[in-house]
Amino acid sequence: MCGIFGYVGKRQAAPLLIDGLKALEYRGYDSAGLYIVGAGCAKAVGQVKNLETKLGDGFSGNTGLAHTRWATHGVPSEVNSHPHSDCEQKIWLAHNGIIENYNELKEELISKGHKFVSATDTEVVAHLIEENIKSDSSFSEALLKTLKAIRGTYGLVISSVHEPEKIFVARKGSPIVLGIGEGENFVASDPSAIVPHTKRVIYLNDGEWAILTAGSYQLFDLEGTEISREPQTIEWSVEQTQKGGYDHFMMKEIVEGDNVIKNSLRGRLDEVSLEVKLPELDSVANQLKDIKRIIITSCGTALYSGMVGEYMIEELAKVPVEIEYASEFRYRSPIIEPGTMIMSITQSGETADTLAAIREAKRQGALVVSIVNTVGSTIARESDAVMFNQIGPEIGVASTKAFMSQVTLFALFTLYLGKIRGTINEEMYKKVVQEIIALPDKIKSILSRQEEIKLIADKYSRFEDFLFMGRKYTFPIAFEGALKLKEISYVHAEGYGAGEMKHGPIAMIDENFPTVALALSDAVYEKMVSNIEEIKARSGKVLAIATEGNTTLSNLADDVIYVPETIEMLEALLAVVPLQIFAYYIGVGRGYNVDKPRNLAKSVTVE
Ligand code: F6R
Repeated sequence: MCGIFGYVGKRQAAPLLIDGLKALEYRGYDSAGLYIVGAGCAKAVGQVKNLETKLGDGFSGNTGLAHTRWATHGVPSEVNSHPHSDCEQKIWLAHNGIIENYNELKEELISKGHKFVSATDTEVVAHLIEENIKSDSSFSEALLKTLKAIRGTYGLVISSVHEPEKIFVARKGSPIVLGIGEGENFVASDPSAIVPHTKRVIYLNDGEWAILTAGSYQLFDLEGTEISREPQTIEWSVEQTQKGGYDHFMMKEIVEGDNVIKNSLRGRLDEVSLEVKLPELDSVANQLKDIKRIIITSCGTALYSGMVGEYMIEELAKVPVEIEYASEFRYRSPIIEPGTMIMSITQSGETADTLAAIREAKRQGALVVSIVNTVGSTIARESDAVMFNQIGPEIGVASTKAFMSQVTLFALFTLYLGKIRGTINEEMYKKVVQEIIALPDKIKSILSRQEEIKLIADKYSRFEDFLFMGRKYTFPIAFEGALKLKEISYVHAEGYGAGEMKHGPIAMIDENFPTVALALSDAVYEKMVSNIEEIKARSGKVLAIATEGNTTLSNLADDVIYVPETIEMLEALLAVVPLQIFAYYIGVGRGYNVDKPRNLAKSVTVE
C-alpha cells in the first residue's frame, strides 16, 4: 500500500524524506514524490532511488512531506504520483486511502473553475481546501470543512504556503502515526519510518487530525476540539516495525483478513441499501447480461479462488462456468464460442501463463474481465474490465490476503451478475449481502484463536504427509490448504474432493498420514462425516474444521478447529483462515522462512 512520511524541524528535510520513503519500500509501490517548503515538488516513477537521483543537491528546506504510491486510481505515472496540489500550487498533500465521493466533488470543483491535472481521487482534496479557504478565515477551518465533506478513507499529510512552518495531518481508516522528537517532529503511515529517529509516537485515531511544528504538536477531533494525548514509547526494532510487530509478513497478511474483506467491499457494497455496485463493470454490463459461458483461468491460489467463484456463479447467476489452469488453456485448442467471457484472477497482474491465456481468449474475440490486485499491471491493462482488490500489495510469497479478497469479489460479482440477469430473487440477494457484511467479525473471531491453532499445528508438525479433503464449497479449500502447507513447510500435502477418497487416496491412509477434513455444517456435512468415519476405521488421524455448535465431530476427529457459521456460499472464506494459520505454524515450527519459501517467486513472469 502507499507510504507517507513527513518532517518538520531544523535539519535538511530532503535526505530525511528519502530515508523515510526507503523505510516504507517494503510495502510495495510504483512511484514516489516529495514536496519541500521553499524548494518545491519532485516526482519519479519507479524506485525511490530514481527520486533521489532527480533531487540532486538542489532541494533545500526544513519542512516537507513525501509519498510512495501504489496505484488505485490512474496508472503509475509522474502526474498521478503524490504530492498533489491545488490550482495555485499553494497546498501540497500526500494521501493514503480512497476518496469515494471524489467524482462528485471533482465535478463541482471543475464547475467552479478548478483545473485538475491527474486521474487520482487525491487531487480533489487539495482543490477542495483551496476552495474552502476562500470563505474560511484560517487554513485549519478550511481543512476541517474539507475533512467533513470527503467520504472514504484517508491518511493525509498537508503542507501549505499559507502556514509554511506547520504540517497538517488527518486520519480516517488509513493509519497515521506522529513521531515526537527534540525540536523536530515526524509523521508517517507506519512507525517503521519513524523508529530510526524517535521511539516516542502518537497514533492518530479515526476522525482525528493534528498540527505539527518543529517544537509542538496539537491534536483535534472533527468538531475542532483539542484532544490531549501523551506520546507512547515503542520498543520494536525497525524490522519488526515493518511487519507491524509480527515475525513474518505472512502472518501480518493473514491477520489483516477482516480488513481485507472491508477494503475489498469499499465503494462496492452499500450497507444501508444492501446494494452491490460494481461501477468498474458498467462499460461491459450489456455484454454480461447476455453471456452464455464463463471460463475462469488462472494459476495456483488465484485459480482456487476461481473454483469457489465457479460454484457461486453457477448457483446464483446461473451461467455455466469452466475452470482452466492457465498453463493448459494457453496450449490446448480452447473453443471460445461467441458469448464466452474469460475471467482471470491475479494478485501480481503479471503471471505469464494467465497473461498468455487472456491474450489467446482476446484473439478469439472473448470478453475478458479480471480480478487484479496490482493497478497498472499488464493483465489489468489488457483486460476489458477489472475489479481491483484494493488491499495493498501482498509481500509474503504464499498468497493469503489476496485469496480472501478474490473470493469476496467473486461473491460481489455473482450478486451483480445475478441481478442484471434476473436470476436471483431479492430475498436471497439481501441475505447474501448481510452475510458478507458479517464476515469481517467472524474472521476476527477465528484470528483470536491463533494460539489454539498453533498448539494443534505443533502436534501435527512431525508428519511428512497430509491429505486435505472437502466437498462443494470447501473442495477448493482442500486444494488451497494443501498448497499453503506444502509451499511453506515443504511437507507433502494433497488436496482432494472427499468423494474421490474411495477411488484411490484412501489406500494411503494409516497412522502416519493425517487428514485435514473440512466438515462444516452445510448440505454435504453428512457425507463428510462418513468420509471421516472411513479414515478413522483405517487408523488415520483426523483434524476437522467444523462449524461452531457442532457437538459430533469432537467425538470422531482427533482434533477440531471451529469456525463461525455462515451461508454455504461464503464458508470457504472462513474455512481457509485456520488452514493458513496451521500452515504458517508448521512452516515456522520447522524453522523455515515462510515469507520466502525456497524455489518460489512472488510474481511468476516466466513459464
Ligand atoms: C500460492 C501462490 C501462487 C499464486 C500464483 C498466481 O500461495 O501465491 O500459487 O497464487 O502464482 O499468482 P498471481 O495471483 O500473481 O497471478
